[in-house]
Amino acid sequence: MLTSLRGRLFLGLTVIIVLTGAIGGTFAYLWAYSEAIEMQDSSLVQIGSFALTASIRQSGPVNGVDADSEVAIVELGAAPHGSAEERQLWRLTDGLHNDRYQGQPVRILLRTRPDGSRFAVTQRTEIRTEIAGDMAVRTLLPIAALVPCLLLVTAWVIERSFRPMLRLADDLDTRKPDDVGLLAATGAPRELRPFLGSINGLLERVRAMMEQQRHFIADAAHELRTPITALSLQAENLESPDMPPAMHDRLEALRSGMRRTRNLLEQLLALARQDTAPPAAGEAVQLDIIAKGVVADLLPEAASREIDLGFTMVEPVAVNGDPLALMTVVRNLAENAVKFTPDGGSVDLGVYREDGMAVIRIEDTGPGIAPEDIDRICEPFFRGRQPSGDGAGLGLSIVKRIVDRGSGSIRFENMTGAGRSGLRVTVKLAVVGYEAARATS
Ligand SMILES: Nc1ncnc2c1ncn2[C@@H]1O[C@H](COP(=O)(O)OP(=O)(O)O)[C@@H](O)[C@H]1O
Ligand SMILES: [Mg+2]
Repeated sequence: MLTSLRGRLFLGLTVIIVLTGAIGGTFAYLWAYSEAIEMQDSSLVQIGSFALTASIRQSGPVNGVDADSEVAIVELGAAPHGSAEERQLWRLTDGLHNDRYQGQPVRILLRTRPDGSRFAVTQRTEIRTEIAGDMAVRTLLPIAALVPCLLLVTAWVIERSFRPMLRLADDLDTRKPDDVGLLAATGAPRELRPFLGSINGLLERVRAMMEQQRHFIADAAHELRTPITALSLQAENLESPDMPPAMHDRLEALRSGMRRTRNLLEQLLALARQDTAPPAAGEAVQLDIIAKGVVADLLPEAASREIDLGFTMVEPVAVNGDPLALMTVVRNLAENAVKFTPDGGSVDLGVYREDGMAVIRIEDTGPGIAPEDIDRICEPFFRGRQPSGDGAGLGLSIVKRIVDRGSGSIRFENMTGAGRSGLRVTVKLAVVGYEAARATS
């Protein structure tokens, strides 16, 4: 059972074309064959009429006729004479006959002149059928040439007709997972419109659902923020100088729990904001200045753990985007690098321009990410194989959303090489014109 519509169409049309060719060819052949036989008969008759009036009376091949057709005149005289065969011929009536002459089947025309002498015009049957066959075969040539041409044209037309369908499938296949943009109906054949309508309806519903879900997360995070803040404040107020040390430790645990929860809420909100906010108009943002600010913020923490945090390369680069979002990107990546680098390690940042893209590169000397985790590392709440104590695994998913929305790319690689280990994260964003970067620096 052929499941491809294209395959079925092509097979069906091939059968039709080949059958038509075969039937048409057979009829053309038969018709041309009998036509050729008749034509040879009529040329025998013409030669007969000509010989009737000609003065030369001599047996032999007829000149002026194609030598291959082997037409000959046999003089039989006024009364039967000569060989038994010639006598036998003499007895035939005037007109066309099938008979034998010189041991071979022949087509033969007998005529009697006014003076009573008779002659025969002969042609070997074998030659006649050969000539008729040749002529009939020639009528098949155009059909034989036409069939493959028709098949090619059919395949081409089918291919072209199905192209819009394949294009639509391609459009759906190559989409990002969260892309629920509607399919374009322009240029699509009329037969596809109902499907397009249904698919677009479905996409519309999925989009609404996604929207609803994002709003729910944003609302929930927002609603939780107020009570958590209040709880944090109350926990702060519990602190008193005459508290026993055991109590103090428990209070500290409570507070750090509160901090983590607040952090998580902030990140959830940030994620929801990235999902729900309409794309920002975007302004030229100095990436290098943002990176310097982030590094300055992280320096105390890095210093306390003897981590060498700094730039290997920094040049003025401007990208289009929301300054806060871009700061979130650099901050999350740099924070991770510092967090996962063991004490005494180093974290190197690079901000530069390369092939018309703005590049942020962050390298650390931490454990890197297990290769099997790299593809999933940007999924929300995914924390890899060695999850650190705090952190909910939302940081990188926020980074990824922001980068995706800015049509940028992010890549994680484990550095393996002489004396170097750790993670290298490379973010590439479209750079604002070189001149703009210069003017504002
Ligand atoms: N620089 C890094 N070195 C090693 N692992 C990292 C690095 N950055 C991120 N990871 C891994 O990716 C996971 C997800 O990171 P992230 O989304 O920032 O979540 P969080 O920092 O909240 O745990 C981390 O839990 C960690 O396992
Ligand atoms: Mg993080």
